[in-house]
Amino acid sequence: MRSKIVAGNWKMNITLEEGKTLVSQVLNSIENVDLENKKVVFGTPFVSINAVSEIVGNRENVFVASQNVSSFDKGAYTGEVSAEMLTACGVKMVIIGHSERRAYFGETNQVLADKVNMALKNNLTSIYCCGEVLDERKNDSFKAVIKSQIEEGLFHLSKDEFKNIVVAYEPVWAIGTGETATPDQAQEVHAYIRTLIEDKYDTETADNLSILYGGSMKPTNAKDLMSMSDIDGGLIGGASLNPKDFVEIILAM
Ligand code: PGA
Repeated sequence: MRSKIVAGNWKMNITLEEGKTLVSQVLNSIENVDLENKKVVFGTPFVSINAVSEIVGNRENVFVASQNVSSFDKGAYTGEVSAEMLTACGVKMVIIGHSERRAYFGETNQVLADKVNMALKNNLTSIYCCGEVLDERKNDSFKAVIKSQIEEGLFHLSKDEFKNIVVAYEPVWAIGTGETATPDQAQEVHAYIRTLIEDKYDTETADNLSILYGGSMKPTNAKDLMSMSDIDGGLIGGASLNPKDFVEIILAM
């Protein structure tokens, strides 16, 4: 059975001390929450990973994610952070292919496929992001865009390797804009993604894949989105910076 997941993506917003306070507050608030078959993830900047990992400790079903990983193994790549380094700091998951990385840092599906491979090799779960921009939604090419993002970034994986993948559908027009996809709009794409996986692999692989929605998810819409049959959780930007909001979204999962 696939897990429900609420993952925060802090982006480049908070410092080490602010992050430590945020994680402690969230963990205190969910201390008595039953997380069976659920996962809470903190997607922190690299510099906060160690400290956040220490606070999380070996709590069950709470994980630290990085927001990026190098596509290279090791060596002379100034400024890069390898998957091996992340694993050594207690990271369990990595966000790969966020639309901001695609748009501002030129990350192509091919580079993202390399990053997914690095994650796999180092036992990290990839949270692989896909999603269309507004024009692609308006001219109805969004499914074709998502299909190529999924095919080119993930379909080189074997069925067994695919167990280490979580997909996040994040319509770019809904990220940080306050505009959210309706539950029906999101459900349509999530079901479509699951069909792509079923066609490529099999029903079991598709059924076991957690597919998260991202794009202005907040306490007021989280329940409606996550109650859709193919929406298994959320990748949360803005609302993950506020402990009260993030906890409310966790409770809605
Ligand atoms: P948002 O960001 O929740 O602030 O829209 C989501 C994301 O980019 O992951």
